[in-house]
Amino acid sequence: MSVTVIVGAQWGDEGKGKVVDLLSRNADLVIRSQGGSNAGHTVVVKGTTYQFHLIPSGILEGTRSVLGNGVVVDPAQLVKEISLLESMGVDVRSHLLVSDRAHVVMPYHPRLDGAQEQARGSRKIGTTNRGIGPAYEDKVRRTGIRMGDLRSGDRLAERITELIEERNRQLELVSPDRVCDVAQERKALLEEAELLRPYIVDTFPMTDEALRKGARIVVEGAQGTMLDIDLGTYPYVTSSSPTAGGACTGTGIPPTAITRVIGIVKAYTTRVGEGPFPTEVTGELETLLRERGHEYGVTTGRPRRVGWFDGAVAQYSARVNGMTAMVITKIDVLDTLGTISTAGAYQAGDASYSYPPSDLGAFAACVPVYEEQKGWQKDISTIRSREELPRECRDYVTHLEELVGVPSAAISVGPDREETILCNASLLWD
Ligand code: GDP
Ligand code: IMO
Ligand code: MG
Repeated sequence: MSVTVIVGAQWGDEGKGKVVDLLSRNADLVIRSQGGSNAGHTVVVKGTTYQFHLIPSGILEGTRSVLGNGVVVDPAQLVKEISLLESMGVDVRSHLLVSDRAHVVMPYHPRLDGAQEQARGSRKIGTTNRGIGPAYEDKVRRTGIRMGDLRSGDRLAERITELIEERNRQLELVSPDRVCDVAQERKALLEEAELLRPYIVDTFPMTDEALRKGARIVVEGAQGTMLDIDLGTYPYVTSSSPTAGGACTGTGIPPTAITRVIGIVKAYTTRVGEGPFPTEVTGELETLLRERGHEYGVTTGRPRRVGWFDGAVAQYSARVNGMTAMVITKIDVLDTLGTISTAGAYQAGDASYSYPPSDLGAFAACVPVYEEQKGWQKDISTIRSREELPRECRDYVTHLEELVGVPSAAISVGPDREETILCNASLLWD
């Protein structure tokens, strides 16, 4: 048996989708644990790009793929994603299951998300506007509707009407232009419920049996450690737990069953949305990293903020997630640079920190303490072994391993599935 948990070690978009796809080849089951369609996971196979918001990236390999109980599911988005993938020749119907415990992102949730952001004014979070915060609010308040509720036909139409009308009264007060058309939204939701019904099951017996039979399971986390509701840069975070603990609560897999926690670590840092980002860069370097790395959000198209590698963040991630190894991604983006900076610690006035301090003001005041490395200035995208990388690039990888404190299982040198250097397969799978 093996349970491998994939977590983002920074602020999301580290390349989790690519790594999950890679691992799903040797897996029996892939389960998404949290988040919703705020995620955008990209897999590139022989030049064809697949973008996933909800469906686990394991689906491309024909691995059984599950939306776990910790996910919040927007039915319209899921229906759209299923039909897009099927039109691309992916057999979704035979492989996808959705937990009946997963909560539904209702049509009013994105509208409430937008209204809340507007009300925050200059303190806005920069959410993806996918209704994630309001959907988790309803879950925690115990007023949510779950995917299982979409299965039962009898009172569904009535319940949907009541819920939309109730939220419309709230929207009417704060943002009248966002009020839902009850009849239209009810009709759409009932149609989506019909289409999704065959996928919705209690996923416990299947997950439990897989664990008892010694199956190989991959848990696909979304977002990243610094966006964790508890451990991230609150309040500039998402509303779920992207860290390893969330992998358990979001799937029903017990902590004692986890055999590996793989942190996905981008060779530099990016962040979408607001909030402190100590190693952020501007000017020419910003443009270079953004354009070479195609750093535009998969979900919103927003340009991602970019910066140098932050070792304090990555080491913190390694510790709070219990990372057993990492996969370094997008190192090829640094190919043209003459010198590359990394930070291992921060200075804030008289205080120094080797980790991101919990106090947001203190974190915002942190100035990175940089070290410089020589760049390799060669195209590495065709290299397939660690030994063949230019010496400066090998030194950079070793330096990242020292900063983070865990070994690299693999190094990604391009977006395509094939553009991967396997360093130590036993750190990835049995
Ligand atoms: P995720 O949310 O963690 O799955 O990551 P995203 O898909 O949002 O963003 C990662 C982006 O980088 C995608 O466009 C990937 O195709 C791309 N990518 C992944 N690995 C590499 C890599 O090693 N090199 C380059 N150049 N691009 C990569
Ligand atoms: P993947 O899985 C990067 C960010 C948003 C915003 C904050 C809160 O592709 O790595 P939300 O809509 O969740 O309430 O927004 O979190 N965010 C992400 N940033 N990658 C993601 O997912 C993200 N999901 C949410 O930009 O700052
Ligand atoms: Mg992404």
